[in-house]
Amino acid sequence: MTTALPDIERALRLLHLSGVRDTLETRVLQAQGTQQPFLETFALILQDELDRRHSRLIERRYQQSGLEEKLTLTEFDWSFNPRLPRQACFQLHTLKFIAEGSNALIIGKPGTGKSHVAKAIAYQAVLQGYKVQYLETDDFFNRYVLSPPAQRETRLRAILDGDLLVLDDLFLSRTIPDDAGALLQMLIHQRYKLRRSVVVTSNRVVQDWGAYLGDNTMSTTILDRLMHHCHLLEFDGRSYRLKEAAETLARKTKES
Ligand SMILES: Nc1ncnc2c1ncn2[C@@H]1O[C@H](COP(=O)(O)OP(=O)(O)O)[C@@H](O)[C@H]1O
Ligand SMILES: [Mg+2]
Repeated sequence: MTTALPDIERALRLLHLSGVRDTLETRVLQAQGTQQPFLETFALILQDELDRRHSRLIERRYQQSGLEEKLTLTEFDWSFNPRLPRQACFQLHTLKFIAEGSNALIIGKPGTGKSHVAKAIAYQAVLQGYKVQYLETDDFFNRYVLSPPAQRETRLRAILDGDLLVLDDLFLSRTIPDDAGALLQMLIHQRYKLRRSVVVTSNRVVQDWGAYLGDNTMSTTILDRLMHHCHLLEFDGRSYRLKEAAETLARKTKES
């Protein structure tokens, strides 16, 4: 066996079986030590390759998602704002809404955890192998309107193709670039036709969207599609950001 190892390693490299390559020596030792039947060893080796490919796929999905942190609901403190729709958040976290092709609209006060929950759901979707696009909406709009047509098209394709699109902090700034309203309408309309899920978070109540878009008809069209199959979550409560800022300030005052 030992003499054949370099040949096997070369073959594994040629066949791009890096998962097998990484664990082969261990599996050989394991089999020798326990007189494991060949098929059992072979099955373990194949599983090593499958595991490696799966974790690579998940890592790739994460890199492509636009998420910059791996947030989960584990670190979320539900006692801080007891009125948050906890059950509805966990319901979304099951990701059934993606399979159904329905949407979620998370509206409420700043700092109450809307983005945190949306990112945690998006990350859970990545872990389950879904194609996710997370966008900080303002930043996306600004970059999009400045980018050349070819780049716009590639970007749009990824956004329309994904299983889940997260538009975080929609209308954070009260004004959006000229073409952004039409872009938003097109995105929501296309994904609606394809029954692909969208999660939107916003500090702005839907009644005001027309004003931010500068077009009430467009706002109605967007909301009509978005809310047809939709989970509505309202986040009411205190700002966790302010709590953190107050704690930092208190610490600094104590230190000085
Ligand atoms: N209940 C909570 N438990 C733990 N961290 C929280 C909670 N609510 C908010 N945060 C944290 O506070 C910060 C602001 O929350 P964020 O989700 O951005 O609020 P929003 O999007 O509603 O304005 C983030 O760092 C987030 O992780
Ligand atoms: Mg937010």
